[in-house]
Amino acid sequence: STRVLTGITTSGTPHLGNYVGAIRPAVAASRGEGVESFYFLADYHALIKVQDPARVQRSTLEIAATWLACGLDPAKVWFYRQSDVPEVQELTWFLTCVAGKGLLNRAHAYKAAVDRNREVGEDDDAGVTAGLYMYPVLMAADILIFNADKVPVGRDQIQHIEMARDFGQRFNHLYGEHFTLPEAAIEENVATLPGLDGRKMSKSYDNTIPLFAPRDQLRKLIFSIITDSSMPGEPKRTEGSALFQLFQAFASETETAAMRKAFADGIGWGDAKQMLFERIDAEVTPMREAYEALMADPARIEATLRDGAERLRATYARPLLGRLRDAVGLRDLS
Ligand code: TYM
Repeated sequence: STRVLTGITTSGTPHLGNYVGAIRPAVAASRGEGVESFYFLADYHALIKVQDPARVQRSTLEIAATWLACGLDPAKVWFYRQSDVPEVQELTWFLTCVAGKGLLNRAHAYKAAVDRNREVGEDDDAGVTAGLYMYPVLMAADILIFNADKVPVGRDQIQHIEMARDFGQRFNHLYGEHFTLPEAAIEENVATLPGLDGRKMSKSYDNTIPLFAPRDQLRKLIFSIITDSSMPGEPKRTEGSALFQLFQAFASETETAAMRKAFADGIGWGDAKQMLFERIDAEVTPMREAYEALMADPARIEATLRDGAERLRATYARPLLGRLRDAVGLRDLS
């Protein structure tokens, strides 16, 4: 069977971009035949950005409840918290020792930090932690530890998957065929969801719409999406319109075609926003109710996560690390 794996960093409240880019396609894929799915909460990754323990814990709970509310069945898929599988850390070290430093220098997140420093005349690495620099190696360990074939992610993550292939290949070359080389699986029509300001929806840009915002807040946020200054009656451009792209991500082809025509016919922005709100609210409402019920019972979520990780460690992680320790010349502890 094909192994599908993906994670979400526990650094904030899940937003529509996470839902459209990762959660919705992942839950749909997990219902298919012949797939073994691995979905996890990337809390080791969260520490790179968030040094507030309460926020990491809160986000972990919110993201776990989100997966479950969106229809993930923990009896059918592997659902776990990254830090509950500490073998990931040991594998990170093995991969660190084969990862090319030059390749890590080219990682987007690191390069962006260097570019920002250069713009303001700081040293290249000012304020950059080794954790940020090592981000792709930790992510490669997440993927390789369960020999994932496919990794459904947004476009921003493709480079990381390519690095995971690179590190896995080098390890295999040195120590024997231990790892499957993973491939990114990108949803073509919803590659990158824009946020309120038209840039990629992202926690870092503070332009997100929380997936389970209460209805009145959802409406308010949707009405704050930036549009151009064209008046009702004037034709609107769909290209480059955040509002249109958001609508498309939640609507059927027929509804999208109707909206395209409404744009050409000069629909007013207020009317278009109302339609977008209604479309998103209709999809989200049943899940929002499930989410609120789950958030009221954190002990149940905690038990689900622990159970997933315990079974996963016994089935895959510990035996694999035993083989890897042996392969690299360390004592097999298993
Ligand atoms: P993270 O937490 O930034 O985002 C989680 C997932 O949501 C997708 N995404 C989006 N998709 C479409 N439009 C957007 N505006 C948008 N914003 C976010 C991301 O592409 C991602 O799929 N490094 C990862 C977490 C991770 C991981 C892994 C993923 C850690 N280990 C192993 C896959 C495999 C991250 O920070 O995603």
